[in-house]
Amino acid sequence: MYKSEKLANSLKLLIENGTWKANEKLPSLRHQAELSGFSLITVMNAYQELEAQGLIYSKEKSGYFVVAQQPANDEQNQNVTLNAKIEINSTVFQYLKSIQPDTIIPFGTAFPNSQLLYSAKLIQTLGQLARHRLSYEQTPSLPPGNFALRKLIAQRYCMQGIQTDPSDIVITSGGLDALNLSLQAMTQAGDYILLQQTIFYGAWQAAERLGLKVITIPEHPEHGIDLNAFEQAIQKYPIKVCLLMLNCHNPIGFTVSDEIKFQLAKLLHQYEIHLIEDDVYEELHYDHKKPLSMKYFDQQNLVLHCSSFSKTLGAGFRVGWVYAGKFSEHIQHIQLMSTLSVNSFIQNALVEYLSHRHYEKHLKTLRSSLERNKKQFYAYLTEHLPPVCKIAYYPSGYFLWIELPEYIESVYIYQLLLARNISIAPSVLFNANFAKQNNFLRINCSFDFNDRIKFALSQVVECIQYAINNPSVRS
Ligand SMILES: Cc1ncc(COP(=O)(O)O)c(C=O)c1O
Repeated sequence: MYKSEKLANSLKLLIENGTWKANEKLPSLRHQAELSGFSLITVMNAYQELEAQGLIYSKEKSGYFVVAQQPANDEQNQNVTLNAKIEINSTVFQYLKSIQPDTIIPFGTAFPNSQLLYSAKLIQTLGQLARHRLSYEQTPSLPPGNFALRKLIAQRYCMQGIQTDPSDIVITSGGLDALNLSLQAMTQAGDYILLQQTIFYGAWQAAERLGLKVITIPEHPEHGIDLNAFEQAIQKYPIKVCLLMLNCHNPIGFTVSDEIKFQLAKLLHQYEIHLIEDDVYEELHYDHKKPLSMKYFDQQNLVLHCSSFSKTLGAGFRVGWVYAGKFSEHIQHIQLMSTLSVNSFIQNALVEYLSHRHYEKHLKTLRSSLERNKKQFYAYLTEHLPPVCKIAYYPSGYFLWIELPEYIESVYIYQLLLARNISIAPSVLFNANFAKQNNFLRINCSFDFNDRIKFALSQVVECIQYAINNPSVRS
């Protein structure tokens, strides 16, 4: 047994027998080294081990503290997981590289079928603007971005009953930039943040880049988010901010009900916790009514709402925003040091485009195409996949989330399919805890259900069937 393990075990006893009480500060690393006779590095390793076990937590510049509730005493607490060190970026990088070639049928991509985006009217507007030198010769629109565009976005919030001032909004380089800037503005390395157990890899990458510790809570089979686990997590760890997806969740697809959002807003208020809401799929509902964002329920300005035009007009435009409220100034400072400004020519074009009814018309067509395609994919897969596979269908967006039998790692299916020039997104991309839930995969269903796509889907079915029939060669 390593010295650090030995020390961790004896310190664990002090916590378990109540010598060290909840929220009590542990001796500093140096003091503990003196007390125990172990080296500083051994003490540090022992503390990190206890932290990984969820027994203690660290606070920036203050030291280590005993967590409020011990997992051993509370079965439900096992739902709350600490991911102290995130290492997902290389996996995501390699994955995205592998599915890039044009020859690959992109069921694994997060981008919607580009043939449904890039509205003809917007392209026309871009062309008209390009002929006016002023539209691209003017100085870049520095943070917080083009005022007219912020005003139009503010109006869209108002249409949903969310009173918004354009000065609360910062235009960003897509939704990912909005999430990254918000997280950076609200945290420091070593802080705890809360994520859903399964979430868009961009959130994990941001946590890795900023050196954050991630507490995860599992999805709730009925409500999408597990409010009990959420409350336990914030009682147990000093969480700085949560980052959640509640509408058209990527990769799973669910939308959390208004009632649950209302309850969540109450908890945010009660514990004074901020939320960064990733809502980039907000417009892709099939219902006539757009789902409400958490911003709607937020009376205390605790929610930063992030969205973009990537899923509706085109990810290539790289225009998103964050409704940042009182964090707007801080976010702009960081933006000035990194991206400086978002493409001002595209911002001008969006102002022109959004000022007319073009966007609403485009969204209507986009939604009905996505719904049609997703239903066709779902019908095909339901008919052809073996019944042990469970497919989650939600009436929004363009993803299907498929559960395979537990003994099949979806990375294996990804490898089999890549050899046939087809991509899918395995669940390792959405869950930094590699030991859990490796048997899921996401399929992008935004493509027209033609013969080529149908053939590719038959290959997906064939590979899954092969893995089920041959469990011994699955990895
Ligand atoms: C859930 C989620 N959030 C954020 C983003 C990033 O959006 P953007 O392309 O606007 O940066 C994506 C892109 O796939 C996403 O799926």
